[in-house]
Amino acid sequence: MSGILRLSHADVRVPDLELAVAYYVEVVGLIEVERDGNRAFLKGWDEHQHHSLILSKAPTYGLNAVGFKVVSADALEALALRLDDAGIAATRHAPGELAPGSGDIVRFRAPSGHTVELEFGQVQVGNRMPKLNPPIGPDGLIGMAPPRLDHIFLMCEDVNAVTEFFRDVLGFRMTEQILADDGNQLATFLERTHTTHDIAFLTGPDGGFHHLAYWVDDWNELRKAADTCAYHGVTVDAGPTRHGATRGCGLYFFDPAGNRNEMYTGGYWFDPDDEPTTWTESEIGRAIFYYQGKLNQRFMTVHS
Ligand SMILES: [Fe+2]
Repeated sequence: MSGILRLSHADVRVPDLELAVAYYVEVVGLIEVERDGNRAFLKGWDEHQHHSLILSKAPTYGLNAVGFKVVSADALEALALRLDDAGIAATRHAPGELAPGSGDIVRFRAPSGHTVELEFGQVQVGNRMPKLNPPIGPDGLIGMAPPRLDHIFLMCEDVNAVTEFFRDVLGFRMTEQILADDGNQLATFLERTHTTHDIAFLTGPDGGFHHLAYWVDDWNELRKAADTCAYHGVTVDAGPTRHGATRGCGLYFFDPAGNRNEMYTGGYWFDPDDEPTTWTESEIGRAIFYYQGKLNQRFMTVHS
């Protein structure tokens, strides 16, 4: 019904573009595809589309927009109609209008205050490997070298409202929720890909950006990512650790601007007929940091 395939890209603000590109290429290990004035376009090595991360030079840090990949032009049209029916004002953008390599984009502001782009037809640039008898990876990868984007974690005041919007209007499925003692949602995890989350919301200020997560293949890769942070003097925020919610494993650290990154692996498959899992407020520590059993204060209070 929805036509949304997965998380496509995030547009993140950085005050020092050169420093940010150096970090995302040499430490994180993303591939720089193109530079356009005050923006750089990067992707994980196994992503075929033009970009999954846009770095935009700006006076401060934070998130400009989050994008989702839509399966077809018809599906994008249907989603635009659903937004219209829901009373959400959206703008339409032709291929290449918003960014080099961009496809047809429907752009709107979600109830959480975040700018969301639904995109069909972003330019495909390939993964530097042939389609005939390829090796398992390209030569010359450096840093953490995640193959692809995994999920984004945002903050807003009314998690209930934005969760309802993502479910009812955009067709996301809720896999897990953390409920406050008063019954309100403190956090929700939503997916389109059958993983545990493509996007999650945590209670906080509207428009808040908690972290952007790239996928790595296993726990050993998280250890290597932590080694890479230590080698380059990158501030580790938490982990490698395990989440109770999603059962995934992650390592959190900060880019030079202060945006939180995560390397993530694990989790389970979620089918459309599966029932969501609920965590109570008293168990929020285990839901977020399963081993430690309690939240570190930074996780709830530091964001961009
Ligand atoms: Fe995460």
